[in-house]
Amino acid sequence: MSKMTKQQIRRHEEVEALLWGSAEKLSPEQVAFCLEHWDPRALSGKHVAKNQAYFTPLPLALDAGRYIGGNGRRVVDIGAGIGRLAYAVLFANWWDTNQVQITAVEINEAYLKVGQRLMPEVTWVLGDFYDLHLWQNLPRFDQAVSNPPFGQVLTDYDTSWIGYRGPAGLMVAAIGLQIARLGITMILPQPQTPFCYSGAPPGKNAYAPSQADYLKRFIARHPELEWHHSSIDTAQEVYKSGWRGVSPVVELVSLQGRNGALLSMHYATTAPRPNCSLALTGQMA
Ligand SMILES: C[S@@+](CC[C@H](N)C(=O)[O-])C[C@H]1O[C@@H](n2cnc3c(N)ncnc32)[C@H](O)[C@@H]1O
Repeated sequence: MSKMTKQQIRRHEEVEALLWGSAEKLSPEQVAFCLEHWDPRALSGKHVAKNQAYFTPLPLALDAGRYIGGNGRRVVDIGAGIGRLAYAVLFANWWDTNQVQITAVEINEAYLKVGQRLMPEVTWVLGDFYDLHLWQNLPRFDQAVSNPPFGQVLTDYDTSWIGYRGPAGLMVAAIGLQIARLGITMILPQPQTPFCYSGAPPGKNAYAPSQADYLKRFIARHPELEWHHSSIDTAQEVYKSGWRGVSPVVELVSLQGRNGALLSMHYATTAPRPNCSLALTGQMA
């Protein structure tokens, strides 16, 4: 992980002054400035590495949020950081904020506090996404969104309820499919998807010629699953340059599992999965 530059440190300090210098509501421009320049490395490089807190480049977040929400949908951002994806979903629904209700789940309290200050209209939940009890006590969601940690994340929770063990990205995918009836939109490292679109020369087959064992196991566990690719090449400079301290090759995908069972929740009303859909998927090679 690279160190912060002097300019990044200066910007981060400006953000801190805006956030905590007064309790006044921040203007939309100030919120955008804070989201862009608040840098988790200033707090602790150790936390960044442990929780894999590499925030989504804003242009990529804004593109990811574009098709989420509407119709008053309940959306959950899993591993929300300071809320770049939550912001993108709000931004996509700016014309009527009643069109979406967002919940953001984050394990790091410092990130959560920044998120709360920036977006008080979001319901912020401090918690571990591996905790079954957390999900059983939250309302049912329509859609999930996530840029999850990509590697292994150690946890003391019993994760057997997820039904899949592997890289955190795919474990979060499995969680999203159990808690959101319309599925989950995610930023995943390319090898955790069946695609090799981003960074590939134009005209190349968009599907990966071979798959890692952990992905094969994930797909075998969710045979009903549809993968939708966003057709966004995230290796373009506008997206790639926004990762701080890392440069992963990722894909922006949506996963929809029409027949999979939703997790039963203690206080939730039942909302069925849709029984009709647009045929958007291509044939997997
Ligand atoms: C790759 S970052 C993405 C942050 C944010 N979603 C974004 O797009 O900018 C992953 C986030 O997940 C959080 N996280 C890691 N493990 C978690 C866990 N077990 N439960 C909840 N959040 C977790 C990290 O603290 C970090 O903020």
